[in-house]
Amino acid sequence: MPTRRRRPPARAGRQAPQARPGDVRAGGPPEVPADFSTDLSTDLPVEVDVRVHGLAPGGDAVGRQQGGAHDGRATFIALAAPGDEVRARLVREQARVAWAELVAVRTASPLRVAPPCPYFGVCGGCQWQHVALQAQRTAKREIVARAVGAQVDELVAPSASGYGYRERARLIVEGGAVGFRARRSHQVVDVERCLLLGDEAGAALTAVRGQATTLPAGTEVDLQVGAEGVHVAVRSRAPIADERASSVCAAWMTTTSARIAGTIVAAGAVAPRTCGAQDVDVAEPGSSPLRIPAGGFAQVGRAANAALVAAVMQAVGDVPGDVLELYAGSGNFTRHLLSRAGRVVAHDADGRAVDRGRRNAPAASWCLGRVPSGPSAAADTVLVDPPREGLDGENFAAAAGAGRRLVYVSCDPQTLGRDATRLRAAGFALRHVVALDLMPQTFHVEVVATFERP
Ligand SMILES: C[S@@+](CC[C@H](N)C(=O)[O-])C[C@H]1O[C@@H](n2cnc3c(N)ncnc32)[C@H](O)[C@@H]1O
Repeated sequence: MPTRRRRPPARAGRQAPQARPGDVRAGGPPEVPADFSTDLSTDLPVEVDVRVHGLAPGGDAVGRQQGGAHDGRATFIALAAPGDEVRARLVREQARVAWAELVAVRTASPLRVAPPCPYFGVCGGCQWQHVALQAQRTAKREIVARAVGAQVDELVAPSASGYGYRERARLIVEGGAVGFRARRSHQVVDVERCLLLGDEAGAALTAVRGQATTLPAGTEVDLQVGAEGVHVAVRSRAPIADERASSVCAAWMTTTSARIAGTIVAAGAVAPRTCGAQDVDVAEPGSSPLRIPAGGFAQVGRAANAALVAAVMQAVGDVPGDVLELYAGSGNFTRHLLSRAGRVVAHDADGRAVDRGRRNAPAASWCLGRVPSGPSAAADTVLVDPPREGLDGENFAAAAGAGRRLVYVSCDPQTLGRDATRLRAAGFALRHVVALDLMPQTFHVEVVATFERP
């Protein structure tokens, strides 16, 4: 007998829905209202049949309910695959869309593969190990095209196997477990081995696990692989006694099972304690150094970064003129812009990143604080690489000042789509779109979009 539960009544007078992960747009399934203010106040039947046809931006699969009162309703289901026919339990619903948890695969899609990782489905790190790599890439291409309203000209995929590409990881310590957050939960999955990690990061995970369990709950342990080995950064709100911090670092620095180049422990209110190297060189092969500590922003791995840098430099072109680089981080792209540009003005909001940027790309004019504007920042080409939220007001205004070309690096197709609409309204045309699958087995996709003034 199906269980039923009652939802609270809908609230009136809310604004139009905003785009959010999980939306599906024209060209695929129907437009989905994303604001839960329209949730139905009716009871939820527990289980529905769904024919799955796609993968959505936030990682869920999407399909249509088959039969029942909501025949044809778009439904999002984690861990289903395009082409599956599944039984699923509703967890949330609106008039035209619902969310459900997979109960059983009735007919398996030919695109289904056996996920090789024993933690898959429990661990929150991967969403798509059960989908063939080529189908993941097709989905990413379609997601980007729908978001920006233009075709994807090229899909770049530097990892052939789709595994072993990660050179950085953030581990969380909780109740004797060391690993990653569980899917849709704050609990920590104790992970002994992660198939996304390359050899060096994987060896470091094994090497740090034992000592990490002795650290306070909630401690984060970042691993960053570079040329000299692995940098390990510990961050804890709770204090860690000096003797404990020293013995943890000593154990890591002397291990023979991984190449640990240095450690930093930042705990409580005391000054961080360091041992060995304070950062590592994460530059892609053949490039000038890019020194980053564990926990600082870097791309997922050196092969991935090489592909991204190549796509960005192709978009920037051989003769970019004067360049303004916004969200420049520690100088990853700046290093390369310097060899082609008349001059490079680079900005980031993070003072530590700007300090690193000055060391990694000293010939650029680095600035912190207010986004450069006015004649001193006038640029033929602007390069932006914002976080997931996309361009904020000040950076948008500076980016829209590009005299000729604006190259937009995005890790979120939905906010890129929003900003593309604003840039078109500001007089830019979208000329070229490259999607990069830098993180296979996950929904993440990087985009390099080139806008020009007509
Ligand atoms: C995706 S990272 C890009 C870093 C760099 N381009 C790279 O490839 O390593 C985004 C950067 O934006 C910076 N950032 C975040 N919000 C910002 C803001 N409002 N204004 C300027 N920079 C910001 C962060 O400090 C971070 O360095």
